[in-house]
Amino acid sequence: MLKRILFAIITGVLLFLVFLGGAAYCQDGEALFKANCASCHKVDKKMTGPALKGVHDRWDNQIEEMIAFVKNSQAYMKAGRPKSDYAKKLYAEYNNTLMPAQALKDEEIKAIFDYILAYKAPDAATAGAPAAADEKKVDPSVYYSILTLVVVLLVVCILLAIVVGIVVTALVAKEKRGVLNWETFTASARGIFRNKFVLTVVGLVVILGVLNSTIDFAANINFNQNYQPVQPIAFSHKLHAGQYQIDCKYCHIGVEKGKSATIPSTNICMNCHNAIEEGPKYGRTEIAKIYESYQNNKPIEWVKIHNLPDLVYFSHAQHVKVAGLECQECHGPVEQMEEVYQYAKLSMGWCVDCHRKKEVDINKDDYYRSIHAQLREDLKQGKIKKITVETLGGLECARCHY
Ligand code: HEC
Ligand code: HEC
Ligand code: HEC
Ligand code: HEC
Ligand code: HEC
Ligand code: HEC
Repeated sequence: MLKRILFAIITGVLLFLVFLGGAAYCQDGEALFKANCASCHKVDKKMTGPALKGVHDRWDNQIEEMIAFVKNSQAYMKAGRPKSDYAKKLYAEYNNTLMPAQALKDEEIKAIFDYILAYKAPDAATAGAPAAADEKKVDPSVYYSILTLVVVLLVVCILLAIVVGIVVTALVAKEKRGVLNWETFTASARGIFRNKFVLTVVGLVVILGVLNSTIDFAANINFNQNYQPVQPIAFSHKLHAGQYQIDCKYCHIGVEKGKSATIPSTNICMNCHNAIEEGPKYGRTEIAKIYESYQNNKPIEWVKIHNLPDLVYFSHAQHVKVAGLECQECHGPVEQMEEVYQYAKLSMGWCVDCHRKKEVDINKDDYYRSIHAQLREDLKQGKIKKITVETLGGLECARCHY
């Protein structure tokens, strides 16, 4: 009897906690929209980008296509997917203003689209208020999420307290045949915590928790994802590659030629900064460092962000020129980064994962002409369904390791 009560209660609490965990993972579409899209989009009004109301209809409810577009619209237009032509037309309609790639997860983008679908215009009274007012207000969803958290925690505490109270009282009633005073109460409470079953369950939960975080920790050891060192000059990709749309290859000249993308020399900066002596944010101070480097013939000491171990061979030309990949597939939305950070994990699993999935257009180049003839034949006869980097040997150890 004692065990059964305890079992029921503990299972209940555990289930509740699991449920809580699940709820915490739910995506808040409105908050995500405000944080990532609201600078260019409104749901019911055209801004820099189109009004997003009715977007499901315009994309024939093809949510996969919409997600792919949001992740990287530039790549989407080129990819020859079902709505690529539509996207190209839209791009032209918006005077070739590029919708920047969004580094969001599929579920997050889905949550944003769900928010758009469910969106109701504020009623006439509030809609009449001046638009400028609501731009200055702190996003109320922040308060809501804090509030929700507090309420949930409170409820959990109260529930736990009630549960413990009930158990203790029940035990006391059972064992002491109704005599309930402080002594019997504490005695049976101690009894609960000495109970082997309770100890086992609590122990298991703790061990599982520790194990889980250890594995997480170990899996990320040695990887510098999100590494963002301070650079000697406050150089902004957002300003140069984003706002002024300077081509990545203008500065990273090695990217189509060889292994290294290369970091631009001071001379490349000087092509423009000969004339541009002042910037919008730092005035003359940061740009003066370029002149200092130029006049003293001393290279700027940029801190390297991406570092593969020496045993790995990686070539930019292979990926950018031969495979035609966009920088953003591996480096994320650099053109939105004030300071660059390491976007991808750069683990072996990361390389291999893409090599397994990425299809290669073997008609495009004659790099592997002899193998390609055979592959085309296999494809025609249905021996293979698609040609990925893996099919071309991209998972062989020696391709990536010296
Ligand atoms: C820097 C401005 C900017 C930001 C930020 C931005 N967009 Fe866009 N978006 C645009 C522009 C411009 C277009 C239209 C031109 C084009 O297609 O490139 C567009 C087009 C779209 C379209 C296609 C609309 C249609 O009518 O078919 C969707 C969907 C979209 N954006 C969703 C999003 C979502 C979701 C976010 C946030 C995660 C977002 N955008 C963030 C500028 C932006
Ligand atoms: C005006 C010149 C310029 C342009 C244009 C430019 N970059 Fe850079 N990039 C730099 C400089 C300088 C650094 C080194 C300082 C830093 O990390 O911010 C750098 C660093 C980087 C790094 C990190 C390198 C490392 O240390 O591992 C990446 C990745 C990168 N750029 C990608 C891009 C991409 C992608 C684009 C185009 C969207 C681009 N860059 C456009 C000048 C430029
Ligand atoms: C193709 C032209 C071009 C090149 C090349 C270029 N810049 Fe710039 N840079 C600009 C423009 C345009 C501005 C903004 C000027 C403005 O808005 O007043 C700017 C602004 C800046 C600023 C001031 C930022 C601020 O907010 O105050 C810094 C620092 C800077 N650049 C560093 C560099 C460095 C370092 C390099 C070389 C790696 C470089 N730039 C290469 C065009 C260029
Ligand atoms: C297939 C993934 C991939 C693509 C696509 C890619 N990069 Fe890289 N990039 C990397 C990796 C991996 C490194 C680290 C290389 C190393 O440490 O040897 C790197 C390093 C860099 C660096 C640091 C200097 C260097 O070469 O080590 C710059 C700058 C850079 N990339 C810019 C770019 C630009 C610009 C583009 C697009 C034209 C681009 N990358 C496309 C994966 C990629
Ligand atoms: C976003 C996808 C992507 C990622 C990430 C990626 N690759 Fe690749 N890689 C490709 C594609 C596509 C090709 C095929 C190029 C071709 O031959 O058309 C390729 C080809 C190669 C090749 C030549 C293979 C051959 O057949 O000779 C090597 C070597 C290579 N990659 C190494 C790496 C390493 C090392 C990493 C991780 C640091 C990496 N790649 C990450 C997409 C990727
Ligand atoms: C697509 C590219 C690629 C292929 C194919 C590949 N590797 Fe790797 N490998 C990497 C990269 C990148 C790293 C460095 C990052 C890491 O430690 O995960 C690495 C790391 C390793 C390490 C760890 C070295 C250390 O310092 O911890 C070993 C061992 C290894 N590879 C063995 C292999 C073997 C065996 C194969 C063939 C079955 C293979 N690799 C195929 C890209 C590749």
